[in-house]
Amino acid sequence: MELETDSLVTETTTVSYHLSELAIALDPDSPRHAMPQLVAGDRAILDIGCGIGQTLVACAQAPGRRLVGLDIDHDCLTYGRQHFGHIEFVHGTAEQLPFREGAFDLVVSRVALPYSDIGRSLHEIARVLGSDGRVWLSLHSFAKTWAEFKRSLGRRDYKDVLFRAYVATNGSLLHCLGRQFRFPRNRRCESFQTSWGMRRSLEKAGFTDIHIRRGEHFICTARKRGGAQ
Ligand SMILES: C[S@@+](CC[C@H](N)C(=O)[O-])C[C@H]1O[C@@H](n2cnc3c(N)ncnc32)[C@H](O)[C@@H]1O
Repeated sequence: MELETDSLVTETTTVSYHLSELAIALDPDSPRHAMPQLVAGDRAILDIGCGIGQTLVACAQAPGRRLVGLDIDHDCLTYGRQHFGHIEFVHGTAEQLPFREGAFDLVVSRVALPYSDIGRSLHEIARVLGSDGRVWLSLHSFAKTWAEFKRSLGRRDYKDVLFRAYVATNGSLLHCLGRQFRFPRNRRCESFQTSWGMRRSLEKAGFTDIHIRRGEHFICTARKRGGAQ
């Protein structure tokens, strides 16, 4: 696929980041490539934290399929609407999905839930999935938070050191108690995830058939329990 570089919106740093992620999504040989496997029964797919729609563009196009991307970032959504007309772009947050119950067969979210309240987001995902609907998530391990903490410390960016300490604390709380809190200064919610913490949060939200793969990427897949909401 040819990537268009001429944009109707001014290309912000954020959009540039998502364009580089689109290039990775389109390159199966890239070590950073991690994509959900779709099946023919996936007629309606939601991508939470879709950016410009890169994951849906790269792996989900098929005739008659409903593709919806949701993000909190207006610039990305505007770029996506201008370039990828086959995707519906919706503004919203993972914690409060603006869709009816059972609207989707598959929900994917590639490194976006770490920036949300995981418990609330998983309950919302379960609500908008139909019976036996599936979820595919890529997440952040502690190693990423630790690397960011050390980088900020090296730069003497003490404001960010404090925020990274919050992310580490929040991830530990999610692991130990299944709870999170927002950073008081900016009300952001961010954490790292653990296999144990994700398994417990997914079960609590009504998911079964939970599979967790750790390696280059941290991937969780699960299926909504029949009748669960
Ligand atoms: C690291 S980017 C990943 C983008 C894309 N999924 C990918 O894999 O390339 C995280 C995205 O999640 C979005 N995001 C952050 N917090 C969110 C929330 N609470 N609800 C929905 N989207 C969120 C950001 O605006 C950003 O586009």
